[in-house]
Order: sequence, then structure tokens, then C-alpha cells
Amino acid sequence: MEVKIGLFGLGTVGMGLLTILEEQKEKISENTGLELTVKTAMVTSLTKDRPGLSSTIQLTKDPKDILDDPEIDLVVEVAGGTGPAKNWIKSALASKKPVITANKDLIATAGEELLDLANKAQVPLLYEAAVAGGIPIIKTLREYFRTDTIRSLAGIVNGTTNYMLTQMADNDLSYGDALKKAQDLGFAEADPTNDVAGYDAAYKAIILARLVFGLEVGLQDIQITGIQKITDEDIAAVKALGGQLKLLFRIDQISANSVAVIVAPQVVLPQSPLSQVHNENNAIVVNSDNLGQTLFYGPGAGARPTAQAVLADILAAATTPKDAQQPLPEKQMTLASQRGQAYC
Ligand code: HSE
Repeated sequence: MEVKIGLFGLGTVGMGLLTILEEQKEKISENTGLELTVKTAMVTSLTKDRPGLSSTIQLTKDPKDILDDPEIDLVVEVAGGTGPAKNWIKSALASKKPVITANKDLIATAGEELLDLANKAQVPLLYEAAVAGGIPIIKTLREYFRTDTIRSLAGIVNGTTNYMLTQMADNDLSYGDALKKAQDLGFAEADPTNDVAGYDAAYKAIILARLVFGLEVGLQDIQITGIQKITDEDIAAVKALGGQLKLLFRIDQISANSVAVIVAPQVVLPQSPLSQVHNENNAIVVNSDNLGQTLFYGPGAGARPTAQAVLADILAAATTPKDAQQPLPEKQMTLASQRGQAYC
């Protein structure tokens, strides 16, 4: 069966998706019986040089060429931002087209509304790539932990800052040089302020807190400290103590119906599993009643890992659309006023 895809965005992740769709065409077809074809891609520039781009993909600047095309079965949004992307997704859901997005800013800020629309339309809205790109954490939390009770989540969900802090500590790179390298490698957001100020990690924490605890909060509600003020002296002092500085998020259930959320740089000691998480890698520690502590580790940024998460969602939406639908959580916890317990 052919599945025609409309793609919003041909940046790092969009191009990564085209690469793996092309490379793995036969494997996908043999495994799933699906022939995945990107019919149309919406871009901001029609003249930009895109080496290797197949001439069979129609490029457009008009979202209607995707949204009003009855031949397009499924929409992938990897353009980012909270402006037009929201309307594209709403319009696609209204036309009953499943939507796959990597847009953490949008899912964090408007996820409740969009998931509600998707539920009403009975079509999947999937966002595995929005949190820790290369770690299948959304599916795991939603399905594997369905009947377990999670008490806390903590870890590293921003590849750019982890890369920068690793390079500053291990290779003596300056803050500016480390940021530039992270940008050159395609890890950083279009505006890297979101990475270094902790907003990107906070968006991901907000998504996880909604998924697990039904908590609805915005950036303004939670305590966020970035890495901008970390100096070479701070890095050296922590290193001398045998630790590492890392930008961590923590979500702790504080009482029967309240949860604390924080994003801040913290000292990670060698005995912590997070001390092994270097460069752009991410890791999430989950504490639950049945499993105790579990660690999920993998690349958190970059074209191929993020595109793999998008591809997995495409396959889920195309093969088992009913199972792939994501109801909002039944639990509805509120934000605790006090901070959670120290993780490390
Ligand atoms: N800028 C993000 C990061 C990209 O560095 O983790 C993946 O979400």
C-alpha cells in the first residue's frame, strides 16, 4: 500500500527523514507492506541548494498544497515553531490526516488542545521525536508503564547543552566555541537561546509531565535555569571535585496530586548513571513502583536519530492508527509549590 506524505520543513530533520526513507525503502516495504512516498514538501525557500533531493518531490511555499490535497494520507511537521505549525496541524487533523511532529515547543504549549482535537477526530497525533529524539521514551512511558506507577523522572534531554558542557570540561573549549560546534553539528535550535537558557529542556519536561502525571503547565510556571552563566572556573571546580556539571530536568511526584518540575544545571557525581552521558546523548531515569529505577539512554539530537523517531511514528500511524491514538492522561495533577527531592 502506498502512503503519500506531506512534509512541512526540509531542515536537518526533514532531510534526515528523506535520507532514511530512501535508504530503507525496501526494508520498510518488506516489513510493513508500505511504500512511503513524500509527495510534497513545504519549504521557506524554493531556490535553496538541496543536494540529493529527489526531483519527484514537489516543493511548495503554500501549505494548502499539502492540506487540501486529498491524495496526501499523512502529514509530517518538522518545521518547528508555535505559529503557523499549529494551524497546519489543526487543519490536517480536521481533514482526518494523521500527524507526526517533532515540534516540542508546540506540543509543550498547545499539546492539550491538539491532542484533544486528534482524539475527537480519531486520528493519531504522534510526537516521539519531540523528546530525546533517539530514545523511544514516549511510546515506552505510554505503553510499557501503562499500569505501573511512576513517581519521578529526571535526566538530560537537551543534546546541545550536554555537548557544550562535555566539550568545555573534556576539551577545554570556551563556551562560544562549544556552542558553535553544537550548531555546526546540527544539534542546536534555530535560536540557540532555547537550548542554553534551558527552555528546550523545559518544553520536553512539560511534555513528559503531561504524559505521565496529567500536569498542564507553561514555561512561566516552572523554575528554569540555563547554562549561560556557567564559567570555565565553575567547570574546573566541579571537575576538581570529581563531578560533572549537567543541565538536568526533574519531575517529582510530591503528594497524591501534586508534582514538582525543575530544569537547572546540577553537579553529577561519578556514581550516578548520568555521569556516563556525554556530548549530545540524552538519558532519562524513571522511578516507578514495579521497576524501581530504569535508565533510558541514547542520542538526543541530530538528523538521523530524530528522523528515526519520526519514521517509527509514521509506521505506527499508518499500520495501527487506532492503537496509535493518544488519549490525554486520566490523572490530572497540579504543580507543587515546593521543589522535588535531589536526584543525585
Ligand atoms: N536542540 C535540541 C537539543 C534538538 O539540542 O537537544 C533536539 O530536540
